[in-house]
Amino acid sequence: MSLIASHHAAQGSPASVAASTSSATEATVRVATPGGTYEILIGSGRLARADTWAGLPPAADAVIVSNPVVWPLFGPALAAALAPRYRRVTFVLLPDGEEHKDAAALQRIYDHLLGHGCDRKTQLVALGGGVVGDVTGFAAATYMRGVPFIQVPTTLLAQVDSSVGGKTAINHPLGKNMIGAFHQPLRVVCDLDTLNSLPARELAAGLAEVIKYGPIHDDAFLGWIERNLPALLAREPAALLQAVRRSCEIKAAVVGADERESGLRAVLNFGHTFGHAIEAGLGFGTWLHGEAVGCGMVLAARLSAELGLVPHAYAERLLELIGRAGLPTGAPDMPAERWLQLMRLDKKAEAGEIRFVVIEQPGQAGVRPAPDEVVRAVLDRHRVPGLRPGLLGHAQGA
Ligand SMILES: NC(=O)c1ccc[n+]([C@@H]2O[C@H](COP(=O)([O-])OP(=O)(O)OC[C@H]3O[C@@H](n4cnc5c(N)ncnc54)[C@H](O)[C@@H]3O)[C@@H](O)[C@H]2O)c1
Ligand SMILES: [Zn+2]
Repeated sequence: MSLIASHHAAQGSPASVAASTSSATEATVRVATPGGTYEILIGSGRLARADTWAGLPPAADAVIVSNPVVWPLFGPALAAALAPRYRRVTFVLLPDGEEHKDAAALQRIYDHLLGHGCDRKTQLVALGGGVVGDVTGFAAATYMRGVPFIQVPTTLLAQVDSSVGGKTAINHPLGKNMIGAFHQPLRVVCDLDTLNSLPARELAAGLAEVIKYGPIHDDAFLGWIERNLPALLAREPAALLQAVRRSCEIKAAVVGADERESGLRAVLNFGHTFGHAIEAGLGFGTWLHGEAVGCGMVLAARLSAELGLVPHAYAERLLELIGRAGLPTGAPDMPAERWLQLMRLDKKAEAGEIRFVVIEQPGQAGVRPAPDEVVRAVLDRHRVPGLRPGLLGHAQGA
């Protein structure tokens, strides 16, 4: 075991990397928060191992929250691993899908907790992707004004993104993630074996968020992803280990440097301004979030090049990687005015002016406005004629 990153520690921030340790087969990222330090444990077979669950505060109840897709795959093994440490281990299943990240799902968790007489020390364990993690985290933030929770993310996106940072939420019919709270987990357990059953499309969508960390924070990591993409697509544990570890370190470092969400953290939204316009314009769920972000990163990189920040070759390099990852690189066929209209609704927009996350130089991002005509030119050049809902464009653009 070697100490490989301790320079990001920032006392008092909501989350920052205190230290990481890693070996060939597993890694631990320690994240410092004002409430204490928690660990992200990464490796194959982690969720069923007894030592994964050592050192947690004592509690009578553990309640696993999952869904009917994930529970049969890993639920029984997880429950068996937890059983020796709690008086009672129960589970509650939520319906699968983003459309069920809602108040009804939350109510189902509260009903289970109150129906079983669960006290304020009860530990909730989120077993699933970002949907299960976000709803469970919010239930934990609010049940009896807050109970501890543990994340066991089972999608690549959840392992590298949604389980880090402490944001929890449900959707409201009028907006995504509109009802939520900050609530840090007690522990995050990334069992790389869970990724073996993930549909290829979901794996690629998670890779979009992994790739994102290169341009915004770590140019060497981008090179590493380029070299190791075949191993990542083949789900080789050693490659997944490095990808998940480095992604968690970077997310924790960026979040930790931006205590009050003043704007630094916005760089995590690289590709997301264009991406959200794709999701909203095509109808949510038509492209997966990660697919929209993949294409969005191509457009944002080209915008960065158009603005003279990075060479055009850098944008092409990103496009090539994103395409190799199995993500769409061609922009859907919406009129430029529609794109602009959708992007003005972005949370980063100020007084109707769209603010884009751009690459200032390889490995470093910033947020800035761009003239409409430059954005229009980027879109006009890279829109794929006829690319409609349901079709994924891998066209290379101009
Ligand atoms: N809290 C945050 O900071 C944050 C950050 C990014 C995204 N999110 C949220 O995360 C959600 C998206 O997460 P997601 O991409 O994981 O989607 P998801 O949770 O819907 O999972 C995708 C699909 O894969 C299935 N699945 C999960 N694990 C599996 C496995 N191991 N094998 C087979 N199938 C499996 C799920 O049941 C689901 O059908 C969104 O709601 C988004 O808002 C939150
Ligand atoms: Zn995202």
